Amino acid sequence: MLARMTAQKSAQTLRFVRRGQPVALRNVPPERTLLQVLRDDLNLTATKEGCGEGDCGACTVVIGEAVGGRLEYKAINSCIRLAHSVDGMAVWTAADIAAAPASGPASPSPSPGPGLHPVQQALVQCHGSQCGFCTPGFVMSLFGLYQNTQGGQGVTRERAQADLSGNLCRCTGYRPILDAAQTMGDLPLPAGCAVDERATLQALKAIRPQAAPTDTYLRPRTREALLQARARYPKAQVVAGTTDVGLWVTKMHKRFDQVLDVTAARELQRIETYPHHIAIGAGVTLTRAFEALVQERRQLLAFSRRFAGLPVRNSGTLGGNVANGSPIGDSMPLLIALGASVVLMRWKKTRDGGEIAHRELRLEDLYTGYRTNVMRPDELLAWIKVPRPTPAGQGEGQVDALKVYKISKRFDDDISAVCLGIHLTVADGVVRHASIGVGGVAATPVRARQTEQCLVGQPWTADTVMAAMATLRGEFQPLSDMRASAHYRRTLLGNLLQRFWLESQGQTAINLESLNHLEALA
Ligand code: FES
Ligand code: FES
Repeated sequence: MLARMTAQKSAQTLRFVRRGQPVALRNVPPERTLLQVLRDDLNLTATKEGCGEGDCGACTVVIGEAVGGRLEYKAINSCIRLAHSVDGMAVWTAADIAAAPASGPASPSPSPGPGLHPVQQALVQCHGSQCGFCTPGFVMSLFGLYQNTQGGQGVTRERAQADLSGNLCRCTGYRPILDAAQTMGDLPLPAGCAVDERATLQALKAIRPQAAPTDTYLRPRTREALLQARARYPKAQVVAGTTDVGLWVTKMHKRFDQVLDVTAARELQRIETYPHHIAIGAGVTLTRAFEALVQERRQLLAFSRRFAGLPVRNSGTLGGNVANGSPIGDSMPLLIALGASVVLMRWKKTRDGGEIAHRELRLEDLYTGYRTNVMRPDELLAWIKVPRPTPAGQGEGQVDALKVYKISKRFDDDISAVCLGIHLTVADGVVRHASIGVGGVAATPVRARQTEQCLVGQPWTADTVMAAMATLRGEFQPLSDMRASAHYRRTLLGNLLQRFWLESQGQTAINLESLNHLEALA
């Protein structure tokens, strides 16, 4: 349901650090985006708006957070990030990385010269810009990469591609931009371009956020305070990265009376490892969540890099993706295949004040319909529990395979037409376990139970797979939309299961994941 069109003013002050100096803004509505604040309120027009939905990267900025006494840098899409979510952080835009002229702060459009930052100079030298519209976004993704690699040291082509995966360029072509990524580390850093981390950390300490219960953008720092706020304000819009909610603002002009942001609760920023599962807190970004999942299962690396672009993964959270329940969310088919569960929490009043109540359910049982779920108005998704791999059986007739296939029109930075996660265990030639998660074929992410039944207990043979392919194609009634027709989606489901079978037999099918920009250019 769309909310009223009246923007709510927030009495709380939004504070962040820019170029080492505190910026304080009052009356910023809870749904105002960071891009609107930068361009419209601060006149920092170096940051561009292209798509307004986290696809093109023109609006990329870098945020810095104090983590363990150090600055952690992340490139993010400012168009879909709510401004209050960077309260207490440092922000760099394309206007902030060149050396400031002697007379004052850097101009919004720095001209080529000795004061350019190495990432800007490298783009100039490598001819990495033509029309220039995408360039500020590329500059900032490169700046994030520069800061995270001790000044651009040892940047491989693969790393450059991964870090620029959220930036689209229509006219230059990517080769010169990737060249710039590998050149920036060789260029001198002019005086005035280096980030003074100590001073920035001190400035961040001085603006430490002070939450008040009257705020319209609530960002509680503890799990307890978060659950209490949820109980007190059940109508507040819950957000956890806003890589989807941001589009409700930019595309549907939605306004919120109050926002409850789960990402600052420190307990929910943790990833905890137990003997049989890892628990991923609801405030953990997709970048960190996938790092943990890939550490457990190396084969997920290629898929993890196709989950949107890096700036989206740096803002979005795994908990947000799951709770949002989009039928085309990419994490759920994988998590269903892995047998993941979710822990829901709420604040329960007791005679002594209150306590945390929780319940756990399988991920596929969370959803009741299109973007609806079983959560009570006072409940929040707090943890996602993912089983750890068990030692694989050896020998002939043994298979323990996990694969996840994403089919989209564009390879990088695109939404799936179909996403299929398959986890299969075969012992002595017989299928002992099958869990299959599917996205893009129903109103919710779903588990292919009929197909699983068709497989379990059967010999792992071509005949079994043919029967399961027919079942999988008939198990769901997908829609036709701009991403794919219903017929294409059904056909694809069977074909992907066949691909899984062929791969389990040692055949390497055409494997898009193994392609990269370099090979495409060769
Ligand atoms: Fe395109 Fe933000 S304007 S990603
Ligand atoms: Fe024109 Fe990239 S330089 S879109």
